[in-house]
Amino acid sequence: MIERQEIVMSYFNLAIDGPAGAGKSTIAKKIAKQLGFIYVDTGAMYRAMALYFLRNKIDATDSGAIEKACQKVDVTIEYRNGEQLVILNGENVNGLIRTEEVGNMASASSVNKAVRMKLVELQQSLAKKADVVMDGRDIGTYVLPDADLKIYLTASTQERARRRWLELKEKGITANLEEIEKDITSRDHRDMTREFAPLRQAEDAVYLDSSDLSIDEVVAKIVSLYEGVNKK
Ligand code: DC
Repeated sequence: MIERQEIVMSYFNLAIDGPAGAGKSTIAKKIAKQLGFIYVDTGAMYRAMALYFLRNKIDATDSGAIEKACQKVDVTIEYRNGEQLVILNGENVNGLIRTEEVGNMASASSVNKAVRMKLVELQQSLAKKADVVMDGRDIGTYVLPDADLKIYLTASTQERARRRWLELKEKGITANLEEIEKDITSRDHRDMTREFAPLRQAEDAVYLDSSDLSIDEVVAKIVSLYEGVNKK
């Protein structure tokens, strides 16, 4: 009797979680480029949903309205020249989701289970199709619990606020450092204390504090951890 053998392709899943401003997306992008992986920015998906809620004047605390709206929202991902594009109901919204207003709405609306369930499925299907570096808040704990390597990337609140302030300054936007720090603290609190899939370090995640490390140092550290996993 000929036994049928199924060849199951398994892809490397690298999960990076951490609070706002820890440098996750900059670092994840660099690692993806270096390793030839696809970068999946899950925050951008929550931001696209948030943009829909803002445009339609839906209150993040009105779970009924949020649930109803989720049935009408379609968020997908496309890649162009290696860059992730977020498509909201057919519209590329990449250029519209990086504001503080959208970021705060993403944090507030993502506490709703309906919002999370909608996006988690998309995230899991992407990780099944390619080697990915995926960043977010609940990747190692909820979305990809079996990820091959999990990183919890953080930095002090002061340092994260300073980085955000510099980023805005480079764009010609004058901002108040104290206000940014307050904003980051309340976003952390909301992301860490929500009931469903809150931000926390997975038990098997490597803790990395980037406060005193350069971007390249963090990238090198994670790549060497990846090489360690791959040699096993
Ligand atoms: O990473 P970011 O700043 O683009 O994310 C915006 C918000 O989206 C964040 O404050 C919380 C939410 N988010 C989430 O709940 N889960 C994720 N995996 C990614 C983002």
